[in-house]
Amino acid sequence: MSRSTALVILAAGQGTRMNSDLPKVLHKLAGAPVLAHAMRAGAQIEPDRTIVVTGHEAEQVEQAVREFDEAAICVRQTEQLGTGHAVAQALPALEGFSGRVIILYGDTPLVRPETLQALADNPAEIAITGFHAADPRRYGRLITSDRGLERIVEFKDAKDEERAISLCNGGMMAVSYPLLAELLAEMKNDNAAGEYYLTDLVSLARARGAQAAVVMCKEDEVLGVDTRSQLARAEALFQARARAEALENGVTLTAPETVFFAFDTVIGRDAIVGPNVVFGSGVTVESGAEIRAFCHLEGCHISRGATVGPFARLRPGAELAEDVHVGNFVEIKNAILDEGVKVGHLSYLGDAHVGEHTNIGAGTITCNYDGVMKHRTEIGARAFIGSDTMLVAPVRIGAGAFTATGSVITQDVPAEALAIARARQENKPGFATRLVEKLKKAKAARAARRELN
Ligand code: UD1
Repeated sequence: MSRSTALVILAAGQGTRMNSDLPKVLHKLAGAPVLAHAMRAGAQIEPDRTIVVTGHEAEQVEQAVREFDEAAICVRQTEQLGTGHAVAQALPALEGFSGRVIILYGDTPLVRPETLQALADNPAEIAITGFHAADPRRYGRLITSDRGLERIVEFKDAKDEERAISLCNGGMMAVSYPLLAELLAEMKNDNAAGEYYLTDLVSLARARGAQAAVVMCKEDEVLGVDTRSQLARAEALFQARARAEALENGVTLTAPETVFFAFDTVIGRDAIVGPNVVFGSGVTVESGAEIRAFCHLEGCHISRGATVGPFARLRPGAELAEDVHVGNFVEIKNAILDEGVKVGHLSYLGDAHVGEHTNIGAGTITCNYDGVMKHRTEIGARAFIGSDTMLVAPVRIGAGAFTATGSVITQDVPAEALAIARARQENKPGFATRLVEKLKKAKAARAARRELN
C-alpha cells in the first residue's frame, strides 16, 4: 500500500550567477519555468500536499507556483540560512501530516518521477538520492558502511580522502514525518559554511538508530540550474530525452536533433515530424498527422491525417480537424478549420472559423484587426475563397459561396453566391505600344535638356 506523501520544494535561493533580474527558478526550460519542471515531476507521485519554500523575489515565484498548482502552499524563508533551515520553514505547513516527505530543489528540473517514487517507496526512514559523478566537484559526498548510508559530508567540510569519494548526494531525499521535524530541531550550523545543512539529517537519524538508504539516480537528474550555461545544458538534456521518448512512442522524426519540444508537447503514434520543427507550449498532434520541415507551432491542435507545412506557423487557438491541409507560408491564429479544409499557400487566418472542405486560395488574408479591436471571420462549408481575397472582418461567407480572385470582401456573402469585389478590367487596344513610344520620347527630351545645361 502506498504511503501518504508530501512534497517540499526549495526555491528560496537567489541564483546570482544567472546574472539576471529574473529569479533563477523562473527562467524558461522547454517553454516552462525551471521550477514548473520540478513541480511537474513531483506532481506525478500524487502528493497529498505540496509546499514550496520561497525567498528571493518571493512574490514572483509564488505567482508561478500558483499558475502551475493552485493548491500548492507557499512558505517564505526570509533569510537563506541553508537547505536544512529552508525545509524547517515548511514544518508549520506539515502539521497534522503523517507519512513520507519528499524534498527536492526548484532549480533541479530534470529529476525523474520514477526517482521520486523510489524515494517515497524506500522502507528506510531516510532515503537520499546518490549518483556516481563523472566530476564530483562540490557535491556532498555519501559516506557509507556495511550498514548502509552513515552520513553526508559537504565538500567544504570534507577531508581529502572524503573528497576522493565519487558517490555524491543528488539532493532529493525522503524523510518520514514526524521524524523529519525531530531531526530538524537537532540541526546545528557549526560547519565551514555556517549554514543549516539538510544533509546533516542523515547522521542525526543514524545516531538514533534509524535506517538511512541511498536511492541511485542518473547524473542528469541532479543538474542544478545556477548559470546560463547550465540552463542551456538542461535544455539540451531535456530535448534529448523528449526526442528519445517520441521515437520510442512511435513518432517518426526525420532529423531528431533539429526538432525542439515543449514541456507539454503531446504527439500521437505514427505522426511524422520533419526537420527543424519547433513546438511551443500547448501543442497536441494526433496519430498520423504530418508536420513538414520548418514549422513553428504553439497552443494548437492538429488532428489525425492533417498535414502542416513546410514553413507554416500555427499560433495559439489554431485547431485543425482531420485531413486539413495547411501549406507553406501560412499563419493560423485562433481559428478552427473543419475537416478537409485546404489552405495551401501564403495566407493568414486569424479569429476565424472555416467550414469543412472549404478551399482557401493563395494569398487570402482575414483582416481581423481594425487598429483597436479584433473581429471574426466566418466561412461556411465547401466555400471557395479565390486567391488574394481580403476578408475584412467582421464578415461571413455562406456555405458553398465563391469569392473572386483579388476581391476585398467587406460585406457578408450569402450561401452559394459569387462575390466579386474588385475593379472591372478594361482592355485598350494598341495602348501599350503607344505608351512605350511616348515614354521613350520623354526620356530623349530629358537627355537633351541635360546636355544643354
Ligand atoms: C546541496 C547539498 C549537496 C548536494 C547538492 C546537489 C546541502 C547542504 N548540500 O548543495 O550535498 O550534493 O545539493 O545539488 O544540502 N535553498 C534554499 N534556501 C537556502 C539554501 C538553499 O531555498 O537557505 C535552495 C536553493 O535555492 C537551491 C537548493 O536549495 O534550489 C540547493 O541549495 P544549494 O545551496 O545550491 O545547495 P548545493 O550547494 O547545491
